Amino acid sequence: MKIFIDSADVDEIREAVSLGLADGVTTNPTLIARSGRNFKEVIGEISALVDGPVSAEVTGLTADEMVEEGLEYAKWSENVIIKVPLTREGLKACKRLSSQGIGVNVTLCFSANQALLAAKAGATYISPFIGRLDDVGQDGMDLIAEIVEIYSNYPELKTQVLVASVRHPRHVTDAAMLGADVATIPFGVLDKMFNHPLTDSGLEKFLKDWESVQG
Ligand code: G3P
Repeated sequence: MKIFIDSADVDEIREAVSLGLADGVTTNPTLIARSGRNFKEVIGEISALVDGPVSAEVTGLTADEMVEEGLEYAKWSENVIIKVPLTREGLKACKRLSSQGIGVNVTLCFSANQALLAAKAGATYISPFIGRLDDVGQDGMDLIAEIVEIYSNYPELKTQVLVASVRHPRHVTDAAMLGADVATIPFGVLDKMFNHPLTDSGLEKFLKDWESVQG
């Protein structure tokens, strides 16, 4: 499973790259606003750091507006792929951009039927938001299972399942067990994935025992 970093914080992304763990990056308008920086500048810096796709999200509401924005963003770096919302207009834009060979990440997916439509529209990635489904009392991981099964029933659908709105390490484990193609992970969650108390206590004991037999 590929790991994307769900962040617009260049320092976090640099750290994930230095760990050798960033296969790509996803941003959204909230993350860009949180960075407090200019959109084009941030996307340019991230694209220079990461050897993989960097999602830049459109904010227009019509397909024409989204295509116009997408064509502009695609010029910023060959790593940039265009994130469009899962609306009628978003899928129209997806079809038009993907037909021109531009990668598209369809975001804000909350149902298997939406994922099916995105794949038909030529999406490179579909982004189901599992944490937000958990928030409203549904099991987000059930949606991942449905989408993985549907896509695997139809090998002609090439869209990759990009698990988004990941909130904790267990989400990542479950996504990997279901065979999702990608999980996009906030840096804080990635950080937690390294940790286990038995690793810490085990290492401490090894080092203590080693020291006790040194002259
Ligand atoms: O990748 C989408 C993600 O950024 C949304 O996460 O935590 O705002 O639901 P969250």
